[in-house]
Amino acid sequence: MSDKPILEGINLKKTYQLARLKVPVLHGASIKIQSGDWTTILGSSGSGKSTLLHLLGGLDRPDKDGGDVLFKGDSVWSRSNRQINRYRNTDIGFVFQFYHLLPELTIFENTLLPTMLAHSKNSIKENKNRAKLLLEQFGLGHRLAHKPRELSGGERQRAAIARALVNEPAVLFADEPTGNLDEETGNEILDVLSELHSSGLTVVMVTHNEVITNRGNAVVRLRSGQIVNSATLAHSP
Ligand SMILES: Nc1ncnc2c1ncn2[C@@H]1O[C@H](COP(=O)(O)OP(=O)(O)O)[C@@H](O)[C@H]1O
Ligand SMILES: [Mg+2]
Repeated sequence: MSDKPILEGINLKKTYQLARLKVPVLHGASIKIQSGDWTTILGSSGSGKSTLLHLLGGLDRPDKDGGDVLFKGDSVWSRSNRQINRYRNTDIGFVFQFYHLLPELTIFENTLLPTMLAHSKNSIKENKNRAKLLLEQFGLGHRLAHKPRELSGGERQRAAIARALVNEPAVLFADEPTGNLDEETGNEILDVLSELHSSGLTVVMVTHNEVITNRGNAVVRLRSGQIVNSATLAHSP
C-alpha cells in the first residue's frame, strides 16, 4: 500500500526485568497501521500482543534503542513525558479486556474522565454532551447514573468504548475486547466496533481468537515477539 501509515511501529523491542531475570518479550516487531483500516493483531497468549499495543499506544516505553513509534510520521518516544501523555489521552483511545472502569464513579463520570485529564479543545458543556451522546449511541442512555458494578459485562465494555472515544481519538485500540464476554455479547461488542470502523475510525484490535479476525480488513500475526506475517483481507467487511 502506498499510503503513508497513520501509525507505525519500527523494530520495537521490549524486555521486562523481573528481579535479576531479564524477560525479552518483543524482539524487533515492525507494524504499519493504515488510516481507516481495522487491523487485527493475532497471536497466542504470551506472544507479546498487549506489550506491542502498549508500546504503540504510549502506555509503556520500548527498551533503550528498542525502536520507535511514528504517529502521522512523527516520533512518539522521543517526545517529553507530557507530550506522550497527551498522545495517549487524545490521539488514541484504549479499550481493555477487563474494562478498567473506576468503580466509585458513575458510567457518565467514567466516560467524561479523559476530557478532564486532557487539555480539551472543547468546553465542559460540549464534553458532557459528547459523553452523553456516545453513551446513548451505545444503548446506555438509561444507565448514566449507574455504577459499573450495576452493569452487565457487555454494558461495561460499551461504556469503556464510549470513554475511549470521548476525546475524539484518531485510532481506537482494543486489547481482547471480547475476551471476558460470552460469544453473543462479544459479537455485540464487535458489532459496535464494526459500526465505528464503517464510519471511518481506525481500529487496532488484539486477539488470540482467529475466528474474529474476519471482522477487520487487515491481519498481523505475532509469534514469540515478532511479526511473522501481515495480510490484507480481500473482502470488505
Ligand atoms: N510487566 C511485566 N513484567 C514481566 N513480564 C511481563 C510483564 N508484562 C508481560 N510480561 C510477560 O511478557 C510476555 C508477553 O506478555 P503479553 O504482552 O501480555 O502477551 P499477550 O498479550 O500476547 O498474552 C509474557 O510472558 C508475560 O508474562
Ligand atoms: Mg494480552
